Amino acid sequence: MSQPLRVAVLISGTGSNLRSLIDARDAGRLDLDFVRVISNKSDAPGLEHARGTGIPWSVINKATAGDDQDQVVGDTLAGDAPDLVLLSGYMRIMGAELVNRFEGRMINQHPSLLPKYKGLDTYRRALEAGDAEYGASVHFVTAELDDGPVIAQTRLPIEPDDDATSLVARLRPLEHRLLEEVMALFVQRRVTMAGAGVALDGQRLEAPLQWTPEGWRA
Ligand code: GAR
Repeated sequence: MSQPLRVAVLISGTGSNLRSLIDARDAGRLDLDFVRVISNKSDAPGLEHARGTGIPWSVINKATAGDDQDQVVGDTLAGDAPDLVLLSGYMRIMGAELVNRFEGRMINQHPSLLPKYKGLDTYRRALEAGDAEYGASVHFVTAELDDGPVIAQTRLPIEPDDDATSLVARLRPLEHRLLEEVMALFVQRRVTMAGAGVALDGQRLEAPLQWTPEGWRA
């Protein structure tokens, strides 16, 4: 048996992805050891998921860390020695120094089919562009915003009557399941960053893994 994966999760908001990972751990589906939850918002509802389950948590923002936020986040994470740092709705841009400290060990969830729609307002931008499909990505974090190697994605068709609200509602549960599947690969120590790409079982991927509710697509 391999060791549990030590994971630190950074959030800013509701933390529904964090919640679904805690539930997957509690159901015995993911061997995760949550070493810490960090929020840059003191009133982030997602902090309740940490408080309610005994996971250590910290609020690190301008009020608590002044101009040294990146340093404090980095030192706090280093103290917890996570195998993986998950940015899960963490809506703050990190500097290159912090990112580089955890290169290959930091991943981010993004609600678009990267490389499309980096940054904010992803749902609205896809709708305005008249896209036929939408989706979510999980990628390694590099110093460029939403630009690191993409590990996996999930897709859904955009319907004619979709708006941003309906798209969020349909994507979010898929995003939870995609994240659980990606975390399972990390628990099994199957995924690594390989230069500007991703390797699965030591083999460099030609393209991001594609997950559907039926499982991984060949
Ligand atoms: C998720 O949809 C995630 O992809 C997105 O924030 C949401 C967090 O939801 N992340 C970003 O937009 C990062 N650029 P949650 O707080 O309910 O887990």
